[in-house]
Amino acid sequence: DYPRWPSLARESILNVPMDLRSIKLSIDGKVIDYSEEIDSVVITGMGGSGVVGDIINDLCWFWDCRVPIIVSKNMRLPKRLSRPLVIAISYSGNTAETIMSANEALSRGYPVIGVTTGGKLSTVLTNKGAPVVLIPKASAPRYGLPALLYPTLIILERFGVASVINELESGISGIEDALKRVDDAINLAKQLVNSVPVVWVTESRRGVGIRFKNDLNENAKYYSVVSVVPEGAHNDIAAVTTKQGGLKHVAIMGPNDYEGMYEEVLIDVLSSFGAKPIIVKLEGKTPLETEMYGVTYLGMVTLALAELLGVEPVSTEPIDRLKNLLS
Ligand code: F6R
Repeated sequence: DYPRWPSLARESILNVPMDLRSIKLSIDGKVIDYSEEIDSVVITGMGGSGVVGDIINDLCWFWDCRVPIIVSKNMRLPKRLSRPLVIAISYSGNTAETIMSANEALSRGYPVIGVTTGGKLSTVLTNKGAPVVLIPKASAPRYGLPALLYPTLIILERFGVASVINELESGISGIEDALKRVDDAINLAKQLVNSVPVVWVTESRRGVGIRFKNDLNENAKYYSVVSVVPEGAHNDIAAVTTKQGGLKHVAIMGPNDYEGMYEEVLIDVLSSFGAKPIIVKLEGKTPLETEMYGVTYLGMVTLALAELLGVEPVSTEPIDRLKNLLS
């Protein structure tokens, strides 16, 4: 799927309905008017779909996002919401938590937009008149990331939350640059064999760190932890002094933002306690380019690791079993 990511990104945005802001629904006597001003965006979804929220949250550390983005990975919505737009993302459309959140949003009178390949989420929303962006398929939810992310960015543009249009192509360049780094990805994967990777990221790259951890879990069937600094520099880092076997520290560093400061101090402290961190520099001229480079490159690392370990990367049986029990 990875070589298809640039075209997946481009194709998926064609399916965002033009008339999103003119939709008006009446559900249980409540009118839901999509043209009204919103004061927050809730992005709800799980796993490979939910990470879209984390990525957009990262981007809003750089972009001028007009309202707060609330990332919800739960079957409920926070109580405190006033006038949110709810974007319910589920690749399969059959994830119980996301369907429950979307239903709760509609029953509370909030505008909801689904992003999915179909499934029950599409049926539930369409039956109530709520819009659904139908996206192209991939081999598994996580391999369809650009098809989940790009329409969501367009939705944010349509609701005046962020100006994304001029950056979309740079994100695709980020994917293409990463795709050229196969040898580097294999080298990094080799260094991770027989380890529990500790992924260090800064707050504004949290999504890249979470995605890397999730891909390690799902592609390589590997445990991993994410430490987000500055906070992780006030707790996780204390554990570097232990002789706990198998930990391998990976520090992911973005360009031109305040990570520069953390780059030096974090590496310095980890190294002075004998950790020998592996440094991964993210490349890109725009926030989206950097983010897409990071998620693509690190995803390739996890596929290379799966291959080195002789692990089948696509299937995730324990996830499937749990989802079947929930549905
Ligand atoms: C599997 C994967 C999972 C799913 C998650 C939610 O590839 O990435 O993390 O994304 O179980 O399922 P969907 O995305 O279908 O809502």
